[in-house]
Amino acid sequence: MNPYRASLLFIAPECAPLVKTGGLGDVCAALPPALRALGIDARVLMPGYRNVLHGVSSRRVGRARLLGRDVELLEARLEDVPLLVLDCPALYDRPGGPYQDERGADWPDNDERFAVLSRAAALLATGASPLEWRPELVHCNDWQSALVPVYLALESQPARPRTILTIHNLAFQGNFDAGALERAGLPASLHTVEGLEFYGKVSFLKGGLLHADALTTVSPTYAREIQHAGQGCGMEGVLSRRSADLHGILNGIDERVWDPARDPHLAARYAHGDLEGKRANKAALQARMGLDADASVPLFGCVGRMTEQKGTDLIIEAGGELARLGQLAIVGAGSPALQEAARALAARHPGRIAVHVGFSEPLAHLVEAGADLFLMPSRYEPCGLNQMYSQRYGTPPIARATGGLSDTIVEGATGFLFGPASAAALVEAARRALACYADGAAWRRIQLAGMSRDFSWGAAARRYADLYRKLAIPQPA
Ligand code: ADP
Ligand code: GLC
Repeated sequence: MNPYRASLLFIAPECAPLVKTGGLGDVCAALPPALRALGIDARVLMPGYRNVLHGVSSRRVGRARLLGRDVELLEARLEDVPLLVLDCPALYDRPGGPYQDERGADWPDNDERFAVLSRAAALLATGASPLEWRPELVHCNDWQSALVPVYLALESQPARPRTILTIHNLAFQGNFDAGALERAGLPASLHTVEGLEFYGKVSFLKGGLLHADALTTVSPTYAREIQHAGQGCGMEGVLSRRSADLHGILNGIDERVWDPARDPHLAARYAHGDLEGKRANKAALQARMGLDADASVPLFGCVGRMTEQKGTDLIIEAGGELARLGQLAIVGAGSPALQEAARALAARHPGRIAVHVGFSEPLAHLVEAGADLFLMPSRYEPCGLNQMYSQRYGTPPIARATGGLSDTIVEGATGFLFGPASAAALVEAARRALACYADGAAWRRIQLAGMSRDFSWGAAARRYADLYRKLAIPQPA
C-alpha cells in the first residue's frame, strides 16, 4: 500500500526528555518521529512549560487571544520533529511539574491551562490559524487535550480535521467544577448526562470520548477492560457505546534510548550475543543503592510511580519474604505514605532492600540492566513500558496479568505473570521465577527470548497510520 502522507497535529501534554512524569512523555517523544518515518507530516504541539522554553531554541510564528489569554505560538524542532510551543507564561512558565506544583498539589487552574491548549489546537486546525500549515488529523492524548474534539464539533466548518483521542490512563479524567465549562468558553447546555457532565462535575475526558472520531488506548487488553465496571472508572458506559471506534494499539519503546548495547547510563554495555556486561551493572547497582556486594544473590528491581495503580503496596507487603529470597532495589516517587513505607522497609532490611525515592533517569536505566528480575505487580496497567525495557535488558519481568502487561509478556517464555493482586501471589510468582533462575540454561533462554522481541515503535506507528487512513477516507454509505 502507498504510504499515507497525511498532515497530523500531535498534542503532547508532556514530552521526554524536556518534561516527563511517566510513560506518556516517552510516547510523545517516540511516536511522532516513527510516524514521520512512514511519511506522515506529524508536528507536535505542547505548552511552553519552563523546561520547554529553556530546552529548545524557537522563533515566534503567530499570536492569538484565546479564552481571554494572550498567547504566542513558537516554532522549534525536537530532533527531526517540528515542534509548536504554545507560549503563555502566566499559564505554563512555572516551577514544578506540568500538572502539579513542587509539593505535588494539582495546579488550581489546570482546567484553564489545558482548555487553552485544546483551544489552540482547534485554532491550528481551522481557517483562522496563524500558520499556513493545516492538519488533516489531530491526535489528542489524555484529558489534557480531550476538549479539542469538543471545540471542533462546535465549529460549523465542513472540512474540519478528523480527531483521534488516545487514552493512556482512564483514571485521569480532568474532572472540574461546573464553572469549568464557562471558563473553557463552552455552552452551559453541555452540562448534561449526554454531554460533559460526570457525577456533578465537568469531565474534559468524557467530552473527548464522546466527540473524537476515533478512540484508542495503549493495549488491546486494556481496550477490553475499560468497557466494564471494574476498570472503566465510570466511563464504561460511554466507552462500550463507542466500542466500534475504540482500538487497542500497543505502545512501542524508544530503542534509541533503551538499548543495553548503547546505553550511556550503564556501568558496562551488553547485547543479546554476550550478556557478560550484566554482572558489572549488578555490582554497580548494588554499590549505588547500598546493597551488599554479592554476585550470587538474586536481585529484584522495580522502577515506577509509587501508587496503588503500580501495586507498590504489594511489593512493600511482600518485602520481608522477598528479602529472604534475594535483594530488592526500589526506585520511585509518588504517594508520601508509600514512600515512607518503602523507606521503613529498607531500614528493616539493611543490605538486602534499598530504596531511592525520587525521579532518576540514570538509576532507572541501571535497575533495568543490573537487576536479575523486574517487579511490576500493577493493579491495572494500560500498557506499561518498564516491562518492555526489562525484557530488552535481559531482566525478565514478574508482573500481574492485566492490561498491557498481559499483552507484552509471554508467561514462562519471556517473564512470569500472576493473577490476584496480593502479596502472596507476587511472592508465589517470584518463587516460580527463582526456580527457573536456578537453572542457568533455562534462565538464559528466557533472557534471550525477551531480548529478541521487537518492541520498536514501527509496528505501532503503522497501526496508527492505518487508522488515520480509515478516518480520512469517507466510508461508502
Ligand atoms: P506510567 O506512565 O503509568 O508511570 P509506564 O511504565 O508507561 O508507566 O512509564 C513509566 C516511565 O517513567 C518509564 O520510562 C519509567 O522508567 C519512568 N519512571 C517512572 N518512575 C521513575 C523514577 N522514579 N525515576 C526514573 N524514571 C521513572
Ligand atoms: C500511562 C499508563 C501506562 C502507559 C503510559 C503510556 O501512564 O499508566 O500504562 O504505558 O501511559 O501510554
